[in-house]
Amino acid sequence: MENKKIVGLCGSLRKGSYNAMLLKLAGTLLPQDVDFEIISFDDIPVYNADIDIPEVAERPESVVRFRYELAKASAFIIVSPEYNYSIPGGLKNAIDWASRGKDSPLMHKPVAVMGATQGMWGTVRMQAAFLPVFTFLNMNPVLQPEVLVAQAQNKFDEKGNLTDEAAVGIIKKKLENLLSACKV
Ligand SMILES: Cc1cc2nc3c(=O)[nH]c(=O)nc-3n(C[C@H](O)[C@H](O)[C@H](O)COP(=O)(O)O)c2cc1C
Repeated sequence: MENKKIVGLCGSLRKGSYNAMLLKLAGTLLPQDVDFEIISFDDIPVYNADIDIPEVAERPESVVRFRYELAKASAFIIVSPEYNYSIPGGLKNAIDWASRGKDSPLMHKPVAVMGATQGMWGTVRMQAAFLPVFTFLNMNPVLQPEVLVAQAQNKFDEKGNLTDEAAVGIIKKKLENLLSACKV
């Protein structure tokens, strides 16, 4: 039997991103027999239905690659800041490209969202903003436990390690629940 594969998406492109640190940490907490890969999407253009025509191979190469990589996933981890109380535009744009068609690589798959912020609310509004998106896409969001790393600047050390042991325990539990929700 093939290993489960978890694909990670990070909503922040910033060097030194706390969310990127959190996503990397999540990858290290997965069992050895689970494959993990972080997929970038910073080369994807703004969605335009005129160039989303797979029948005539007009999808941009970056989108084709992105969808191909997502298709290999048994489940997803999305780790993101919130921008203006919601999902960062670049991440939402990538999800929009991946969402189209009967062959959408997102459909029916489990997804766990986590977030880190320098503020007090730990991305709670970004996570809430994803719920209707997952519902519309027939995805399977793994909601418990919630992973909200508030005041991240005080919780990651200079090497990018999360020093909050309680938070690490909650992340492990979330990953266990995500793996349990995987069909393949
Ligand atoms: C455009 C923009 C909008 C933001 N909006 C929010 C917000 O609504 N709520 C919040 O708590 N922080 C907000 N922030 C602050 C980010 O949460 C904070 O910068 C966070 O550390 C970014 O994540 P990163 O470290 O992974 O890049 C915003 C930052 C930017 C750049």
